[in-house]
Amino acid sequence: MMLIIFIGPPGSGKGTQAERLCQRLGIQHLSTGDMLRATIAAETDLGVQAAVYLQRGELVPDQLVVDMVGETLAQSPYAEGCLLDGFPRSLPQAEALDGLLESRQIEISQVLELEVDQPELIERLLARKRPDDTLATIKNRLQVFQNQTSPLLDYYGQRGLLASVNGNGTVDQVEDRVQSAMASQSNVSEH
Ligand code: AP5
Repeated sequence: MMLIIFIGPPGSGKGTQAERLCQRLGIQHLSTGDMLRATIAAETDLGVQAAVYLQRGELVPDQLVVDMVGETLAQSPYAEGCLLDGFPRSLPQAEALDGLLESRQIEISQVLELEVDQPELIERLLARKRPDDTLATIKNRLQVFQNQTSPLLDYYGQRGLLASVNGNGTVDQVEDRVQSAMASQSNVSEH
């Protein structure tokens, strides 16, 4: 099973590039942000809990997303190949993912980091106008990325799984760089 992880700050293009890559590879796109927004729109108990965190730009509690991802990964067609967009986002989430994968004898194929300059991130997000794209929330999301998510770069880098991609430039330019990074990783092959 192919399992790719995208890591990058808010606005770095994870969702945009994930859609293109998943289409090309024929694998599923699992975005925890999209899943959480769906629970909020559906006004489920989980959605009511999650809404407060998204509004503030804080991470929702680890166990909540770990359970959500674990359930989804066990289902077809996700179990056949999947790109994780926005998960894991903290060390406890990464460790929980390792446990989930180990129990199913799945190995992470590659972790891709999208690097984008901060002024460009803020410009992209302010132009989009999602409810959590206010300047104050964007700044908090960037800080949360720095404090809680960026340690994962070392976590995966030490295991030789990480490739960093320059995410500045047009969507097509970044897509080309993502493809090159994938091509240079031997255990990720297209089918
Ligand atoms: P999530 O939905 O994951 O948001 P995010 O990480 O803040 O990322 P964004 O969706 O803002 O950006 P992106 O990198 O996907 O870029 P995109 O392609 O959309 O998470 C939202 C919240 O949910 C979190 O704050 C947290 O509360 C919660 N959450 C989610 N996962 C969680 C987890 N694992 N644990 C705990 N809490 C969790 O692009 C952004 C914009 O830029 C778009 O308008 C796009 O069109 C544009 N764009 C993209 N690429 C380019 C380009 N090359 N040039 C110009 N514009 C571009």
